Amino acid sequence: MSEKKNEFDLSLETADYLRRQVDYIPEYAIVLGSGLGSLVEDIEVEKEIPYKDIPNFPISTVKGHKGSLIFGTLNGKKVLAMNGRFHFYEGYDMKKVTFPERVFWQMGIKKLVVSNASGGVNRNFSIGDVMLIKDHINLFPEHPLRGPNDERFGPRFVNMSEPYSKKMLQVVRAYAAEKNIKIKEGTYLGLQGPTFETLAEYTMVRNMGGDAVGMSTVPEVIVAVHMGMEVFGISVITDIGTEEFIEEVNHVEVLKAAKAAEPVVRELVGKLVERY
Ligand code: HPA
Repeated sequence: MSEKKNEFDLSLETADYLRRQVDYIPEYAIVLGSGLGSLVEDIEVEKEIPYKDIPNFPISTVKGHKGSLIFGTLNGKKVLAMNGRFHFYEGYDMKKVTFPERVFWQMGIKKLVVSNASGGVNRNFSIGDVMLIKDHINLFPEHPLRGPNDERFGPRFVNMSEPYSKKMLQVVRAYAAEKNIKIKEGTYLGLQGPTFETLAEYTMVRNMGGDAVGMSTVPEVIVAVHMGMEVFGISVITDIGTEEFIEEVNHVEVLKAAKAAEPVVRELVGKLVERY
């Protein structure tokens, strides 16, 4: 990013470029997390743009994370899917991690869906569970809104009483009940990574009130809420951080477990988009 332009101008420039790619404003932006990329198979793709072709966009570096924006139709609604996100642990600063959300808002998109893989610390959780994110705890060492506030995006002090839309949660909850799909709900606690947690850290997460822990999502949601976007978050529990299970955690296991739960996440997100 150039030094002269501010975040507002940069994101507007990127939004203008993206707006020229299709003749509609998508209703939803959907961030596809670890191993959840196959949601794109449900999207009738109209245009796919690699990050490297998008002005001002950072480029994703993690193995297994792709990098493109996908315009298309999901269950009758226009969506913009983000296939591959930017993590703080990769070395991006928080402004870069959350730049895509700034762009989505500048394009006129008002609804955001975020998905991720996480480690469960709630004793009622099992590997492969799907957790609706009801709330989060931000323990990242840098805040995405630190620094001068641009009032055009939103206020200096942001109300965080409902970061995850209760209406959206209710739509998904109702559908899951209808279809007898077992879901969990809980609080996602965000840490920077890239290490998985020690047993003592998983215990800390649980004691602090987290049900699951991960390395993404929280910064993006904060920035989306700053701009008044409506957010839905969903997480696949890919490992369990307790004495019995902690040895299992590695990236391959996480991707495997995320893949296994993918059909459920796809169905729930698809239904949300269709019904809300
Ligand atoms: N900790 C942090 N991030 C994660 C985990 C975990 O156990 N599983 C998947 N992402």
